[in-house]
Amino acid sequence: MRLSHRVTQFRESVIRDMTRLALRHEAINLSQGFPDFATADVILETAVKAIRDGFNQYTLTWGYPPLLEKLAALYSERLGWEVSPERHVTVTCGVSEGIIDAALAVLNPGDEMIVLEPAHDNFRPAAYIANATPVPVPLEAPDFRLDAARLRAAVSSRTRALLLNTPHNPTGRVFDEAEMTAVTEVVLENDLVLITDEIYDRILYDGRQHVSPGSREALRERTITIGGLGKTYAITGWRLGYVIAPDAFAQGIRQIHDYTTVCAATPLQMAALTALNLPQSYYEESLQAYHGRRALMMEILWDVGFAAREPEGAYYVMADYTGLNAPQAQLAPMPFAQWLTSEVGVAVVPGDSFYSLPGYGAGIVRFAYPKKLETLEAAGERLRANL
Ligand SMILES: Cc1ncc(COP(=O)(O)O)c(C=O)c1O
Repeated sequence: MRLSHRVTQFRESVIRDMTRLALRHEAINLSQGFPDFATADVILETAVKAIRDGFNQYTLTWGYPPLLEKLAALYSERLGWEVSPERHVTVTCGVSEGIIDAALAVLNPGDEMIVLEPAHDNFRPAAYIANATPVPVPLEAPDFRLDAARLRAAVSSRTRALLLNTPHNPTGRVFDEAEMTAVTEVVLENDLVLITDEIYDRILYDGRQHVSPGSREALRERTITIGGLGKTYAITGWRLGYVIAPDAFAQGIRQIHDYTTVCAATPLQMAALTALNLPQSYYEESLQAYHGRRALMMEILWDVGFAAREPEGAYYVMADYTGLNAPQAQLAPMPFAQWLTSEVGVAVVPGDSFYSLPGYGAGIVRFAYPKKLETLEAAGERLRANL
């Protein structure tokens, strides 16, 4: 009895592995990116009421119709083309499913998909699951800028898609105009499909504004835009995401979704609509709170002796531990992260686990800070006491 070749090409998620290690050692979990603060009451109440009111069966495969309508209206405005709730929107079980749906819908066996590294750990498996090959383009510490020449050099005759995540996990980068121009040129010159992961579209710092890459006129016809609700509304366990795809791809994506998950949870989709209808003040308060969390996280890291740049978006920071005044500063990222989790009581993710390219991510661990200030303070106490 043998496994498929496909599943031998990747392993289980290192991030979720670190969460299990954190649970075993009762460490403060700054490894996996999920909030430990409360979800807005009104979102919870809608879900509970929907369950109590009997909305417990399958909904329309593509999504709960009023939610499709809401997303279509939001993205018509954001992308600048008429997104139809009947055709272009698919509600998925998280962004993770959306990415795999998109990969399965556009990649043929043997195709290549460009993935910027460091990359969220679901990106490379998405290509492998489609019997395609992920082709890495490295972003180099400490500034993690996208190098246009390297991006160009990664294209081959087999390249079919480019997967872009902005705001970016794990670097905290928000790709700027010059970087986005390079992406646009490479996509157009090589007739590629652009798949975007915009799950952190509401978490940008210092007045930065999120611009969906698919809103660029030249990219509209060839961009699959993926977003999610887990991070913005602190409901990562509800597994809610969505794909906005132009006509060329929408039906294919729906077919994959139809036969993998049938539909996302009905009562939770109803609550998602409540979430998307929250007033502007919700986002302002959330963003203000994230600025506070980022400030505290950076203060702790700098104070302890990590070298790290302030994130521009999302809620992660890549921290270089090689200057720490501790013998463990010589360790490779995985043993360092394991030591920090089991002995110091603060769980992080080894930086090299975000790269497939050898030699990258050395001396770096990722901290996730979507946490209550008291959680971050408690982590800070442990770090200060041990480093
Ligand atoms: C960039 C990125 N994409 C996708 C995901 C997963 O999203 P979801 O929980 O909606 O599947 C995450 C979660 O951390 C992420 O950081």
